[in-house]
Amino acid sequence: MVDDTKPTVLVTGASGGIGEELARQAAKDKCDLLLVARNADRLTSVAEMLSSKYKVSVDTLALDVTAADALARLDAMLEAQGRHVAVLINNAGLGDIGPFADADADRLNDMVGLNVAALTVLSRHFLPGMLARGTGGILNVASTASFLPGPNMAVYYATKAYVLSLSDAMAYELKGTGVTVSALCPGPTATGFQAAAHMEGARLLKFAAVMSPGRVARIGWRAFKRGRPVKIAGLINRVQSRLMPFTPRSLKLGLVSFLQS
Ligand SMILES: NC(=O)c1ccc[n+]([C@@H]2O[C@H](COP(=O)([O-])OP(=O)(O)OC[C@H]3O[C@@H](n4cnc5c(N)ncnc54)[C@H](OP(=O)(O)O)[C@@H]3O)[C@@H](O)[C@H]2O)c1
Repeated sequence: MVDDTKPTVLVTGASGGIGEELARQAAKDKCDLLLVARNADRLTSVAEMLSSKYKVSVDTLALDVTAADALARLDAMLEAQGRHVAVLINNAGLGDIGPFADADADRLNDMVGLNVAALTVLSRHFLPGMLARGTGGILNVASTASFLPGPNMAVYYATKAYVLSLSDAMAYELKGTGVTVSALCPGPTATGFQAAAHMEGARLLKFAAVMSPGRVARIGWRAFKRGRPVKIAGLINRVQSRLMPFTPRSLKLGLVSFLQS
């Protein structure tokens, strides 16, 4: 059967930060977009800016991707518009700073639900269509936190280790299918993430080389187009992350604990 639906890049968490900039990179390449996040007003203004600047079709869906009906609402919209997801960008993510024992249990549940479960469910849902078409792919936003445990931000680091592990394994499984999976690993990036994670006072932000979301997105989109399974954004982040396996455990845990407080 001929698939006459139009290819679309679906970006989660596109109402700001790295997601907005990844959407911009895809729009620059003349890809049509479906932008998803919870804040409808922010999504609309991002969509209007991208469609007028890059002359592409940009639709929005105000959606909590962790909601039970998220897939049904996405499918209904795609079907109504005669579109399919050619590229899925799993960018929406959430962090929270503080000792594990003091963490708000609902917040931890939200974090795992978004960073782990929603990313997994969306990937599993849209992958078969990509495989049937023999093209497309998934760009998962992981983190430099994927490479080590994170005392004082333990659950966030663990979720990002999951994202990297899942993406790397999927990329291997999909070799030769025409479908690719990439994990983008940014270090500290100037977005709304830090405020949402209550990290503004953290030492990390004083010592780290904070990158702009535009630069992170340019690096990530280029790596995805080249089919790179893992891309660490920025030279300093790359060197630090690649040294992690050779760094004594107590030293790296102590360092992260110091920086994340
Ligand atoms: N900034 C950093 O330093 C940094 C470093 C490494 C990795 N990352 C990762 O980069 C990704 C993007 O983060 P960011 O830095 O751009 O942070 P951000 O500015 O806080 O953006 C997060 C995005 O996710 C959306 N979102 C949150 N919960 C959602 C939900 N339940 N359903 C749908 N959308 C949701 C937010 O929009 P709404 O509030 O409108 O829903 C927003 O668009 C995350 O996965 C993060 O872990 C960030």
